[in-house]
Amino acid sequence: MRIGVFDSGLGGLSTWLACTRYLPDAEYFFFADTVNAPYGDRSAVEVQAFTEDAYRRFLQLDVDALVIACNTATSAAAAPLRQYASMPIIGIEPAIKVALQESRGEVLLLATELTVRGAKLDKLLQLCDPERRVRALACPGWMEIIEGQQADWRERASEYWQEKIAAHARNATALVLGCTHYCWLRDEISVWSAGNAIFDGNDGVARQLYRLLLRREPPAAASHTDLLTLHFAASADADQKMAAAQRLLQGAGVRARILPF
Ligand code: DGL
Repeated sequence: MRIGVFDSGLGGLSTWLACTRYLPDAEYFFFADTVNAPYGDRSAVEVQAFTEDAYRRFLQLDVDALVIACNTATSAAAAPLRQYASMPIIGIEPAIKVALQESRGEVLLLATELTVRGAKLDKLLQLCDPERRVRALACPGWMEIIEGQQADWRERASEYWQEKIAAHARNATALVLGCTHYCWLRDEISVWSAGNAIFDGNDGVARQLYRLLLRREPPAAASHTDLLTLHFAASADADQKMAAAQRLLQGAGVRARILPF
């Protein structure tokens, strides 16, 4: 089984990891559209075009399914792409529903500008947040710190939190990470937000992928013990991105072999 995974950068690797917990034996192809990142600062029309380009790349790779491991691209481009795609398209969206179910107070959603402005989020909130408990906060610039993977990226991400997010998080009882890049800071965010419940869409995507491909309910997620293999490509700085991906995964305690394609 061949599975394509796509994001503007390294954030989507967190989604890929979730997928490997359910489908460890699949062959994964990850494409990071780094030349056009960040998507969050782009228009919906632009992101739609980038996503269609990525789709054509995966079409040539003959994958059985495509995971859009990017909330921004899912918001702007998943629906139109599904109209003509010849493979299942699994998108990721902010895990608002489950956050509302499992918490009582205010839910703070952290996402990119385009996701926060998007009609898809609006619809989702109308559908599942009649009490208006969700507050959406756009975090421009945070993705770049995570994507950059410089030696001090965690410190810089922490400073960003203190300056731009901490005050908004004070009244929240739950946080939703609505950008796959932020998932790389899950443990830190849990500490910074004094133990608030944290939700993201990665596990839901992985389960949905399993259902679509195998036509049955997924089993419990397995933990990562074996060496994982990932075929990797990026539209800019591919070698540098591959090395950064390796470090990021190593830092998360994941053993992975990353091969270019
Ligand atoms: N990782 C992406 C997301 O989940 C997008 C980040 C960006 O390119 O702005 O939204």
